[in-house]
Amino acid sequence: MPITTCVFDAYGTLFDVSAAARQAAAEPAFPALRDRWADMAGQWRAKQLQYTWLRAIAGAHADFWQVTQDGLDWALEATGLAGDAALRERLLALYWELQAFPEVPAMLEALKAAGLQTAILSNGAPAMLDGAMQSAGIGALLDDVLSVESVGVFKPDPRVYDLVGARFGCAKTEVLFVSSNGWDAAAAAGYGFTSAWVNRAGEPLDRLPWTPAHVLDDLTSIPQLARR
Ligand code: LAC
Repeated sequence: MPITTCVFDAYGTLFDVSAAARQAAAEPAFPALRDRWADMAGQWRAKQLQYTWLRAIAGAHADFWQVTQDGLDWALEATGLAGDAALRERLLALYWELQAFPEVPAMLEALKAAGLQTAILSNGAPAMLDGAMQSAGIGALLDDVLSVESVGVFKPDPRVYDLVGARFGCAKTEVLFVSSNGWDAAAAAGYGFTSAWVNRAGEPLDRLPWTPAHVLDDLTSIPQLARR
């Protein structure tokens, strides 16, 4: 079946999640972050994701904004940066204004020109996703933004992936699902989507029961894959 609908994970896939810490580290107000930002950003992201999985398993959902703050507080403490309230506030403000990766606008334009439907499917809370989309200026290139908040559980619960068929009325095999998170791309493949893992960091393949159909270095070849 041909692909009719391209669905993107948001954080790390369309939006550069390490940009918040990288930018704050370049600001004169936060010298302590300068040599620690990459470590802090990695720990922030890792904890944020762990908390989504743990909350999903435990049936203790809180929205992604809460989990993002909890992950940050853990990472600031782990890297010796806790206690700087201005730094915490700045990092959280920057998280609402994340930039898209450079190839994103042209890639989405090509998909729209080819007549495909496009959407985000994200753990993000709707207001966070709206903020990032506005600062990246890509809202007009997406047909919809689907948030896990409408089902109250995080990825990779299948109820999240169900949101795509419910919104677009398409078969699973018509969906190209794109994520930079290996576990998300794998779970989406297990669900029945054609999935692409954007492996910018050259990480090993996740050892899970499912394998993404495509492994890419960045998003530039997505329009080609979708039209195959
Ligand atoms: C998201 C996280 C997983 O946007 O990156 O859903």
